[in-house]
Amino acid sequence: MVDIHHHLLWGLDDGAKNFEVSLAMAKAAAADGITEIVCTPHASGQFAFRPELNEQRRMQLQDALDADGVGLRLGLGCDFHLSYDNIVEVRENPSRFSVNGLSYLMVEIPDYGVPPGLAETFYELQLAGLTPILTHPERNPTLQNDLERVAEWMRGGVLVQVTGDSVTGKMGRVAQRTAHLLLERRWVHFLATDAHNVSSRPPRLSEARDAVAKKYGVEYARSLVTTNPRCVFEGTALPPGEEPQDLYEEFREKSWFGRLMQSIRS
Ligand SMILES: [Fe+2]
Repeated sequence: MVDIHHHLLWGLDDGAKNFEVSLAMAKAAAADGITEIVCTPHASGQFAFRPELNEQRRMQLQDALDADGVGLRLGLGCDFHLSYDNIVEVRENPSRFSVNGLSYLMVEIPDYGVPPGLAETFYELQLAGLTPILTHPERNPTLQNDLERVAEWMRGGVLVQVTGDSVTGKMGRVAQRTAHLLLERRWVHFLATDAHNVSSRPPRLSEARDAVAKKYGVEYARSLVTTNPRCVFEGTALPPGEEPQDLYEEFREKSWFGRLMQSIRS
C-alpha cells in the first residue's frame, strides 16, 4: 500500500514529536503493509513550510530505515493549506509543494467558512500544472452537510482522499457516515492514514482497506490504497476507475420514501 498523507517527519508540525517517534511510526506503517509513504508536513499559517529542512529529515529517516532493513520508501510533499501566501507561492513554484516535486498537490480546506470561490482556486492550481487532491472532506463539518460542493470540485477535476480511520468509525460517526456516502458513489480516489503519532492517530490503513473490500469490492479497495496512490507517488495519470455516480446531478441524499419510489420506478 502507498500512503500519500502522513505527518511522519519529526518536529515540523503536530505530527511526530521526535526522531524516535518517526522511526516507530514508519515501522508500524511497514508492519501494516505500507511500502511507500509521502511525508506531508503542514504548510500553513501555524506551521512554517521549510522544504529544505523537510527533505533533510526525510533523507535522515530513510537512511535509518534502510540501515534497519525496513522496506519502506519515503517521498515528500505537504499538507497544503489554502492561505493567500501559499496560493501566490505555489503558482510561482508548484514543485516546491507538490508530491515528490511532480504533479499532485494535497490540499486541505478550512473546517469552517469554506469560501465560495474555491472552484476558481482549484482551477488556478490546475493552470499551474497541478492536480489537486482534496484531503478528508468527510471530516469537514461544512462539507458533511453539503457534498454538492465536493461534486462541483470533482467535476472540475479535483480528486478526493478519505482518511482510513474515518471509514472504520474511529473519526466519529458523522465522518464515517460521510465517508461511506462518498465511497458508495465512488467519489473517493485514495485512502490515506493522515497519521500523526503511534497511538491516537496511528499509521493504519489495512483495516480500512479490508472494510472497503468487503463492502465495495476488492478491486475498488486496491485502487484506493495501491494503484491510485502509487500514481501520485510517481506523478503519473490515474488509470480509469469505476464511474462516479450522481456526479452530474445535484447531490441529494434520498429519503426512504425517495429510495422506495426509485426502486418502484426501476
Ligand atoms: Fe494532514
